[in-house]
Amino acid sequence: MTPLVATTTSLRVKDARRVVFFTGAGMSAAAGIPTFRGKGGIWKEYDYGSYACQQAFNRDPEKVWEFHNYRRGLVEPCQPTQGHRLIARCEAAQPSTVVVTQNIDGLHQVAGNAKVRELHGGLWRVRCDVCGAKHTGRESPFVELRCPRHEDLPEWKRPYWRPDIVWFGDALNRSVIEASVEAISRCDMLISIGTSAVVYPAAELPLIAKRNKALLVEINPEETPMSNAFDVCLRGTADAMLEMLCEGLE
Ligand code: OAD
Repeated sequence: MTPLVATTTSLRVKDARRVVFFTGAGMSAAAGIPTFRGKGGIWKEYDYGSYACQQAFNRDPEKVWEFHNYRRGLVEPCQPTQGHRLIARCEAAQPSTVVVTQNIDGLHQVAGNAKVRELHGGLWRVRCDVCGAKHTGRESPFVELRCPRHEDLPEWKRPYWRPDIVWFGDALNRSVIEASVEAISRCDMLISIGTSAVVYPAAELPLIAKRNKALLVEINPEETPMSNAFDVCLRGTADAMLEMLCEGLE
């Protein structure tokens, strides 16, 4: 079925019982965080093979950390947008609401959402793949690059903290994907916002909602390779389209 492509709709989130917001980088564009692709996209400037994969980290962890600290610095001063706040209001009004996000910026949580499934990890978390230690904190820049639990080793031999981010070639975290699939399979409205829908397996997750005959809405100023799978495509920005969809929420 061809989707309805529009800039306005009478659909309202308040009329759904279980809503999943499925978000990508366009969700945070108005907060000042660059997207990955398109004009000004991060991957236009940085080759991900040198900065965002396990091989690059194994080769030169400090270079990867430099890039990671650049991203921490970009995101740290950014505040949730009106769109983030509306999604948080939706969860407050309808506690069954779940956010499944490809974003690592943590802005949904700052806005007040409790049920956020971070498919691609989190910018503010690090882990030690040698001893399993984890650390969460908004240090920017992050300077203690080596895990402190390995005091028995000389400094130069201690393992580096690794950003807890899903890099290119990494598998998604199993429990996160399970929780995401569960929420998506049970929803009756899925609203995909600001994703180019080219990174798998995330891109195809919205299709799971179709099995339950949920209504699929895409918000993106541009068409994406997945647009045809949606029932309604709203061609506008995240903030403007959410303002309309969330009208009438308590
Ligand atoms: P992309 O940068 O690929 O796509 C951003 C999308 O947002 C584009 O389709 C834009 O048209 C749209 N967009 C831009 N401004 C918008 C706005 N104000 N409102 C709504 N939409 C807007 O970002 P993602 O699809 O999130 O993965 O990228 C997916 C994954 O690729 C990321 O999670 C990241 C990246 O490599 C990892 O780092 C593992």
